[in-house]
Amino acid sequence: MSTQKIVILDFGSQTTLLIARRIREQKVYSEIHPYTLPLDKLAAMQPTGIVLSGSPASVYDDDAPISDPGIYGLGVPVLGICYGAQLMTIQLGGKVERAEKREFGEAQLHVEYAGGLFAGLETAPTHHRVWMSHGDRIEALAPGFAVSATSAHSPYAAIRHAEQPFVGVQFHPEVAHTLIGAEVLGNFIFGLCGCRPDWTMHSFIDATVAEVQAKVGADRVICALSGGVDSSVTAALVHRAIGDQLTCIYVNTGLMRAGESESVLRFFRETTRLKVIDVDGSGYFLAALAGVKDPEEKRKRIGNGFIEIFEAEARKVGQVRYLAQGTLYPDVIESVAFRGKAPIKSHHNVGGLPERMQLDLIEPLRELFKDEVRELGLELGLPEEAIYRQPFPGPGLAVRIMGDITAERLATLRQADVIVLEEMKDAGWYRKVWQSFAVLLPIQTVGVMGDGRTYEHVIALRCVDSKDAMTADWTRLPYELLGRISNRIINEVRGVNRVVYDISSKPPSTIEWE
Ligand code: XMP
Repeated sequence: MSTQKIVILDFGSQTTLLIARRIREQKVYSEIHPYTLPLDKLAAMQPTGIVLSGSPASVYDDDAPISDPGIYGLGVPVLGICYGAQLMTIQLGGKVERAEKREFGEAQLHVEYAGGLFAGLETAPTHHRVWMSHGDRIEALAPGFAVSATSAHSPYAAIRHAEQPFVGVQFHPEVAHTLIGAEVLGNFIFGLCGCRPDWTMHSFIDATVAEVQAKVGADRVICALSGGVDSSVTAALVHRAIGDQLTCIYVNTGLMRAGESESVLRFFRETTRLKVIDVDGSGYFLAALAGVKDPEEKRKRIGNGFIEIFEAEARKVGQVRYLAQGTLYPDVIESVAFRGKAPIKSHHNVGGLPERMQLDLIEPLRELFKDEVRELGLELGLPEEAIYRQPFPGPGLAVRIMGDITAERLATLRQADVIVLEEMKDAGWYRKVWQSFAVLLPIQTVGVMGDGRTYEHVIALRCVDSKDAMTADWTRLPYELLGRISNRIINEVRGVNRVVYDISSKPPSTIEWE
């Protein structure tokens, strides 16, 4: 992999993640660290460039996040964004004050210096639509700095140092509303930092395979396959590195959607020679869930049962040293913790297992975002249907059946759910939404079929749009599609005579019903 790296110091802005993504989209590797990163550690990373992010704080607050001013002595180009530009200004001897007029949202940028961050934009108009979000502004430049662009309320909307590779922008190049954002970031990473666009999935695979081989040596690794994209890509990547030393364990809880895990298992069995232990736990889980109505109790029993079965199977594999798991970058970023914002902890998808079994972790996806994992999966040859699968909760259909879980009720829900999936896919909506699924309600309602009265179950249809599952809104599906789904469920699924559509957003509702 390329040894070039842009290090982003995070001061708590909501858009810090986007900076990393926008840089990676230009095929340059970038990673985020808290602003408290000690100078010697930063220097040891040998960054090709440093970006100082925005922040909800003001540089003059008592508890303002301030990074080590020693970074300006590392001989590395520095780009300050919003708060980052203001911090750079005061640390290098300029002045920042509360602006009389705050700028939030769109602003017109007037470029005065058509080089540096604005190189290559000469032929375009000198006015550009950018996105601002600040209450403070630079009032006096630090010695050696000059103005590169202005806006109506920011006389120093972009700045540059005359001799050193230090630049700053008051606007946010990382957000989509800043139309010249990619060019500005590109000018920093390619022009000022001299990076080459060589961070590709191909180079990532080569580097990660070598890393995993070096770490694992001759030891054995296990991995819990769930059928989801993260664990599948993890397994495929680790398998490419160490082949037979990897054993995957797939615990069939009997709570999966119809056919959902099969495509992944088929791929691994038929296309790769990955060793997969396929455990049928469906009877175990049905027994463990018998008579349990409380959602938390269901989750607890499923979680414990999963660990028990997985552990028993893993012990049969023999001496195992590592557990491979599909932790992604958003889970491991140590976000800056100030003003009550809690740091994000590393996720453990197989809760507690590494400690219990004294396994060390291998997390080959920990530097990647979800869309990068999908790209990687395609590169590794995984089937598209597995790569673009919607998220599915660990406890499976158990949290989509309100009340008792029985084999019969599972079969009813599964049938209805298949129809939802088929129709969503046929209509081209499956990939457009975050999740779409059926829920079985614990009530019966009256209907009429033929000449007879029916008294049967209700299926709720849940379909949401979301970016990260933290918030979600119900999808405005076309009436014709809703009609087709309802019609088919009532006609084809025995015991169901009514379908309703869930029109609640999250918050205050959640995506799953339990
Ligand atoms: P909620 O229902 O909390 O769901 O709005 C947010 C997202 O998380 C998924 N989900 C789970 N995923 N284990 C998982 O791996 C779980 O226990 C679990 N519960 C909910 C849900 O499908 C949605 O995408």
